[in-house]
Amino acid sequence: MFIFLETFFFQVLYLTNSGSEANDLAMFMARICTNNYDIISLRSGYHGSSPYTLGATSISAYKPGVANGSGCHTTMCPDVFRGIWGGSHCRDSPVQTTRTCSCSPDSCEAKDKYIDQLKDTLDTSAAKRIAAFIAEPIMGVGGVIQFPKGFLKDAYQMVRERGGLCIADEVQTGFGRTGSHFWGFQTHDVMPDIVTLAKGIGNGFPMAAVVTTEEIATSFVRALHFNTFGGNPMACAAASAVLDVIEEDGLQDNCRTVGTHLLLELSKLRDKFEIVGDVRGKGLMIGIEMVTDKETQRPLPTEEMNFIWEDCKDHGVLLGKGGLYNNVSCFFFVFFFNLS
Ligand SMILES: Cc1ncc(COP(=O)(O)O)c(C=O)c1O
Repeated sequence: MFIFLETFFFQVLYLTNSGSEANDLAMFMARICTNNYDIISLRSGYHGSSPYTLGATSISAYKPGVANGSGCHTTMCPDVFRGIWGGSHCRDSPVQTTRTCSCSPDSCEAKDKYIDQLKDTLDTSAAKRIAAFIAEPIMGVGGVIQFPKGFLKDAYQMVRERGGLCIADEVQTGFGRTGSHFWGFQTHDVMPDIVTLAKGIGNGFPMAAVVTTEEIATSFVRALHFNTFGGNPMACAAASAVLDVIEEDGLQDNCRTVGTHLLLELSKLRDKFEIVGDVRGKGLMIGIEMVTDKETQRPLPTEEMNFIWEDCKDHGVLLGKGGLYNNVSCFFFVFFFNLS
């Protein structure tokens, strides 16, 4: 595992059974270690459905009307396609939106505006000192949303100025899926304080983890914490075998090669068909946002989306459903198949 973390910055690993459990522990850890309570997440993000993580999850379909999320606050999702701001080169992707902007290559006005929103949330909704900021490097369930370049870097800085820890939820983006890097956070040139892992690590087996620094782990000993099944020998054997396969079969490279090809081909469909509003992603983390028409960007209704998904399935392509409006087709499950 240490080999795959590519750095000795992270030295302590806690094994859990699911992504929700991992995020739960990360949030708890941040609260204990900072002595602060408030946690900030991005709207449209999904971080789990346990009582703790439901506060950070910000998709109403997953939020039943029961008490949840004490101390959790959300800020605007920096979605450069559907959001208020976005331009022609905001994304770290072979495919950009069809929006235009006059930003120079090394600046991004959209990023600055979304950062202002985070500042506003911190100034108005949260306590002066916060426990943590949790975000995925690319939003998965929210519809493969990529933030403007530099957003996470500026957000991390602002969060740290308020005493908070930065949690990278790598449940979907980890293990080479984005192609260029093994971890999604590396694509943003940031170093989180806590990283959570799940899904790909077990390739279907219940296995997840929280990774952090020695300093944070040492401070966390104030809380008694244990997990009966986390790190059981069978799950560890499965995860270890998965890591071997990722390395031996060159799956990260496969994600980059196949993913880039797929993105470029899909962007031709975006240019050709009115109902393909946006194509985005990196590596084999890809989203296709379907709309009634490009001008209004109204989400394609569920019945039509269901028809497309069923038709794709009949042609042998399984697509995941994502997005706030259930109108994003996501290449969720192709990660571990070598398609080259
Ligand atoms: C980004 C992200 N975080 C956390 C979770 C929760 O993981 P689990 O379903 O293993 O509890 C998910 C699940 O889809 C996820 O996509």
